Amino acid sequence: MPLPKGFLAESLGRIQPSPTIAMTTKARELKAAGRDVIGLAAGEPDFDTPDNIKEAAIKAIHDGQTKYTAVEGIPELRAAVAAKFKRENNIDYKPSQTFVAPGGKTIIFNALLATLNPGDEVIVPAPYWVSYPDIALLGGGKPVVIETTLESGFRLTPEALDKAITPKTKWLIFNQPSNPTGACYTREQLKALTDVLMKHPHVWVLTDDMYEHLVYGGFQFTTVLEVELGLYDRTLTMNGVSKAYAMTGWRIGYAGGPEALITLMRKVESQSTSNPCSIAQAAAVEALNGTQEFLAPRAEAFQKRRDLVVSMLNQATGITCAKPEGAFYVYPSCAGLMGKTAPSGKVLETDVDFVTELLETEGVAVVQGSAFGLGPYFRISYATSEAVLEDACSRIQRFCANCK
Ligand SMILES: Cc1ncc(COP(=O)(O)O)c(C=O)c1O
Repeated sequence: MPLPKGFLAESLGRIQPSPTIAMTTKARELKAAGRDVIGLAAGEPDFDTPDNIKEAAIKAIHDGQTKYTAVEGIPELRAAVAAKFKRENNIDYKPSQTFVAPGGKTIIFNALLATLNPGDEVIVPAPYWVSYPDIALLGGGKPVVIETTLESGFRLTPEALDKAITPKTKWLIFNQPSNPTGACYTREQLKALTDVLMKHPHVWVLTDDMYEHLVYGGFQFTTVLEVELGLYDRTLTMNGVSKAYAMTGWRIGYAGGPEALITLMRKVESQSTSNPCSIAQAAAVEALNGTQEFLAPRAEAFQKRRDLVVSMLNQATGITCAKPEGAFYVYPSCAGLMGKTAPSGKVLETDVDFVTELLETEGVAVVQGSAFGLGPYFRISYATSEAVLEDACSRIQRFCANCK
């Protein structure tokens, strides 16, 4: 039965269901139906949550940490977050300036919902993580997308940033290592951007450092406040345990920022989820305070996978793939295949055609670049074994060779 006219919230009419979740679901369904499908669409590590973290959660259950907690997170976790920011980023945040939420996504959601008014602009460099523009739209804001290029390594340039800022700009959402491109910024590249922001005191920065620990080849990750402390009073530094500690299902994200903003985010949270899961919070304390020994070998495994995928994709006809410094994604161009005819007889006109035909013909699930605001590209998540990646890339090579 259709819903009554006018029942749907206008705000919901402005947004799309997450396209990455849609592709992951499609691949899972095809697999369940018996098709030989390799899923490279999901944005999560294939590694398991380390045992010390699981044990901390089990202990929390036995100790009765099973009740509501403070909205903004348990004091032990807020202290661990403040210590992490000092230890790894040299940023001084008091525990009262930290905030814990059910996933990094909720941090962004709370910050934008707490601050956006109709017409407020949110600058989002593209390709972007799919949720940024939609969360801004849900909050009544206006995403202002700045397209980057393969040639610039998908990095935002200071000139483009300066040009996009208007009196209505409220936030810049800045993410590195990037989902979906893996792009990172050196200290100098970052300084050039923060210099622009220093000229515009009304613009706040939400820096999404979720993939901080996943950088390769000796690349040194630097966050915004490490290069420009002058932005301290208008920066929200967001991070989480989902990717680094392979804890996507536990739903814990965290942030540090000005106390006045944290108070607003707390207000949103208090009327939505009330608090993050008590048990997951205990696990996150162990993640941040416990051994960090597994991070380096895991990053090494990701680096090998990146090198394999980049090399094999660049050998596929019509594909150009940059070699990014971080995260577990690559963002190859499929421009060289546009206008060609797929084995099914379908002419490839867009990256949606490309990913649909690739899935149908070779059973490889990837996500179209247009979902991330820049086509014709596609995103591959290489968070799976080298054997599976080799198989998937061979299939992509075969598909491309068979497009005439
Ligand atoms: C760039 C980026 N930020 C934030 C998130 C959200 O992380 P969480 O699973 O903790 O909500 C993701 C997850 O895919 C991401 O890729």
